[in-house]
Amino acid sequence: MTILPMPMRYGLTLGEAAKLANLELAIGADGHQCVAVSTSPDPAGSYFRYDFLITRGGLNDYPKFGVWPDGYYMTVNEFAPGFIGASVVAFERVEETYDPSQYSFFAPLSQRRMGRLRESVYHQIKAKRYSLISYVSSRATVFPGVRIGENCFILEDNTIQPFVEIGNDVVLWSGNHIGHHCVIQDHVLFTSHVVLSGHCVVEPYSFLGVNATVRDQVRIAEGSLIGMAAAVTRDTEPWGVYKGNPATKGDRLSSELDF
Ligand SMILES: CC(C)(COP(=O)(O)OP(=O)(O)OC[C@H]1O[C@@H](n2cnc3c(N)ncnc32)[C@H](O)[C@@H]1OP(=O)(O)O)[C@@H](O)C(=O)NCCC(=O)NCCS
Repeated sequence: MTILPMPMRYGLTLGEAAKLANLELAIGADGHQCVAVSTSPDPAGSYFRYDFLITRGGLNDYPKFGVWPDGYYMTVNEFAPGFIGASVVAFERVEETYDPSQYSFFAPLSQRRMGRLRESVYHQIKAKRYSLISYVSSRATVFPGVRIGENCFILEDNTIQPFVEIGNDVVLWSGNHIGHHCVIQDHVLFTSHVVLSGHCVVEPYSFLGVNATVRDQVRIAEGSLIGMAAAVTRDTEPWGVYKGNPATKGDRLSSELDF
């Protein structure tokens, strides 16, 4: 795949660029990509012309353009002579390229807005009728009897003990310990080196900071933000922010933070 940034030139605004009916592409010979952009909103007027060499001797198939504030971007499928690269596809139209009945989706995003950004993308993917898959590192230790939902992202050195249930759209960054019989519900993120003792429940949208420790049988309520190195000894309250050892609840709610 090639992504070709071209500078926005000649004062063409983003709004004008978005109306690029007057952008022409031609696949040149020998790996050249020819592009013509009109000098004005008049498509019958004159054009700036460009010639980019992508891969000498190759073929730049299916060129596509996107517009970003700092330039135009082109993606192509490269053949030289066999296929040597994949494509970048706009999410809004992904089902036109990848049939939902033939492809599965995986979208492990950040915890912005306490997991609700990732949740909204997750639901958009489901609305497009894709099935979702999960990634579990081959260097994670997953004991028998563990259930893991869809669109989960589980990195190396996690230890997930027997009979743990993990919902959908959960991220476990590296090196966490998830004790036996714990339940982690949807849209939760564990950072790294969190210890969740046995029989805990973590409700949706919760975030557990690095090196946090949770006592056994504790319920982490919806939207809890557990700060780094906090030691949680009792159930938390929804959307609370907890710090310290033993962890105490702060004045602000996690939903009020830019987190
Ligand atoms: C809890 C958290 C969200 C910040 O909460 P906050 O109340 O907005 O904290 P602020 O940054 O405004 O700091 C306020 C005070 O709390 C202290 N503080 C911040 N986080 C703390 C924590 N986890 N434990 C103890 N004290 C903490 C600060 O040192 C500061 O103390 P001061 O007033 O004496 O200087 C954040 O500190 C945290 O722990 N984030 C998780 C970090 C993490 O795990 N990152 C991994 C990313 S992959």
